[in-house]
Order: sequence, then structure tokens, then C-alpha cells
Amino acid sequence: MDLTAPYVPDLESIPAGLDLPAEIRRLKAERRAVLLAHYYQEPEIQDLADFVGDSLQLSQQAAKADADVIAFCGVHFMAETAKILNPAKRVVIPDMDAGCSLADRCPADYFEQWLKQYPDHDVVSYINCSVGVKALSTVICTSSNAVRVVESLPKERKIVFAPDRHLGKWVMKQTGRDMVLFPGFCIVHEQFTAKRLAALKAQHPEAKLIAHPECDATVSQLADFVGSTAALLNYVAKDSAKAFIVATEAGILHQMRQRRPEAELIPAPADSGCNCSLCPYMKLNNLEKLYLCLRDLKPEIHLDETVRLKALKPLERMLALG
Ligand code: 13P
Ligand code: SF4
Repeated sequence: MDLTAPYVPDLESIPAGLDLPAEIRRLKAERRAVLLAHYYQEPEIQDLADFVGDSLQLSQQAAKADADVIAFCGVHFMAETAKILNPAKRVVIPDMDAGCSLADRCPADYFEQWLKQYPDHDVVSYINCSVGVKALSTVICTSSNAVRVVESLPKERKIVFAPDRHLGKWVMKQTGRDMVLFPGFCIVHEQFTAKRLAALKAQHPEAKLIAHPECDATVSQLADFVGSTAALLNYVAKDSAKAFIVATEAGILHQMRQRRPEAELIPAPADSGCNCSLCPYMKLNNLEKLYLCLRDLKPEIHLDETVRLKALKPLERMLALG
């Protein structure tokens, strides 16, 4: 057997007519597995999960997971984060190719060279990055706590923020701190434009525009509220508006509908003309691959121990901030 061959999910090995949700529940119990899912996963995966959350909540759950196996329904850097925090547990992900444009466009070796221009800077890295980039960082943040993380650094410290330039710019505005920004972006959030959203707002004057800070600054400026996935969900649950234009990945609408069934939820259109915005990486996971990954415990995340230990420090520093 070739142990170096990449794992390819054998979808044909799934018996016809199998009750996938029931089998997934059964395997989860048999494997003593916890199923963590990001808000951008397909509704049927969210409904089977033990915990659904944004990247901060998921890393907090991963840190305290009482299980032998963590089945991570999200993208690769999220499962990798769970492994950094749980080296003794088996961490599996339904599709190993579920990457992220932010993480993939900031390879650790390139980042290491790029950082040489800023030797006296603290490095704040958004959790959407690889274990190698985390290992080069002073502290990690998510979109939920980026402002708090930056404010936790002494005022005189110079800061590099990576890899999302839009989140970095938004944090600069909130904190009044100057930062050097790595030029990365999310391919999903970058597609929203102020021009198209202003036109949509004009069509729906009663609707509030809410946006993720991975959006361009012109979109954030137009928005009534800017926040992480969990903050957007919370805003919709509590705000009295009857309609919302949601400028983030449309997977979040599943939870929003449950919190506000009577509200009109309008997914922000991408500028390209498509009427919904879905992360192609997140959507690589599906029930079939989840079933196979719980059945076969593959594909599994493995990390180099030296790099893992280096990445653990900035991650723990973030988690200690609460
Ligand atoms: P959250 O921190 O809001 O979960 O965002 C993660 C992400 O990938 C957004 O695109
Ligand atoms: Fe990455 Fe963007 Fe997908 Fe989030 S939505 S996982 S930032 S590509």
C-alpha cells in the first residue's frame, strides 16, 4: 500500500439508500467523536453537529473537547487549529481540499521572507492562516476578537497584521492603531461592492445592511453593523429591524432563519451577478464525505511537532484573552 498517496473519498463504497444522518449519529457515538461545524457549512451538517459556531467559538470548543476524535466540518486551517490544541486527539475533516483563499495565499515560507522587512514588529495573525504562519506570529486573532487582541498589545509596539488586509484596515479604524497589512483577501467577501449594495439598499429601504469585516472598507462604511459571523447572528436575533441584507457567506442564513423566522433575510449579491455568496471551500464538505470520514477516520490532520509547539503559543495567548 502506498502510504504517501493522497486520500480520495470513496463515495462508491457508500451503500445505496443508506440513512446518512442516522449512520453519522451512530458512528459519532461509536468513535466517541465530537462534531464541530462552522456557520458556513450546509444546513444538514449544521443540524447534525454537536456545536455550530464561528472560528473563535470553534477553537474554544476544540480546546475543551472531551472526545477521542474531533470531526471538523469547516475548512483546513480550522481543523488544523483543533489539532494544534489537541495533539493527542484524532482530528479528521470530510474534505482535505477545503482550503481558504486567505490561508492558501500566504504560504509560511513566503511570509517568513516578507516579515524580514519588519524585524521589530509584533505579528498579529488572523486565525485564517496555516500552522506555519501561526508559528511565526506573536498572537492570533479571529474576527470576533481582533480589536481586543490588537488593543492588548502595548501602544508603543509596531504591528504587522496578516493575512487579511480588509480585516486589518477595519481593526485600524476601530483601534486608531497604525499597522502594516499583509495584502491578502477572502475571495468570497471581496466580491461584495458598495455600488451593488447601495443599489440593493435603495430597493429595500427598510432593511439593515450587515457585513463581515473581511469585506472591503467601502462596504463596511455603508453597513449599519459590521461584525464576525457570531456577532452578525446575534445582531439579527436582537435587532428590531424586519429585514436584513447580509454581506457574508450565505451559510449563516440557516441559523439566522431559526433565530428570526419572520424576518426577511436578503443574501448580499456578489458583483459578478450571482445572487448568493457561497465559499467554494466550505461547500466541499458534504454528508457523504462526513460519513466516510467518521467511518474510516480519514483524512486526518497530522502536524510537525516543532511547528505545532511554536503555533500553540500565539494561539494560547489569544485564548487567554477570553
Ligand atoms: P468567523 O471568524 O466570523 O467565523 O469568520 C471565518 C471566516 O472564514 C469568514 O470568512
Ligand atoms: Fe476563507 Fe473566505 Fe472561505 Fe472564509 S469565506 S473560509 S475567509 S475563503
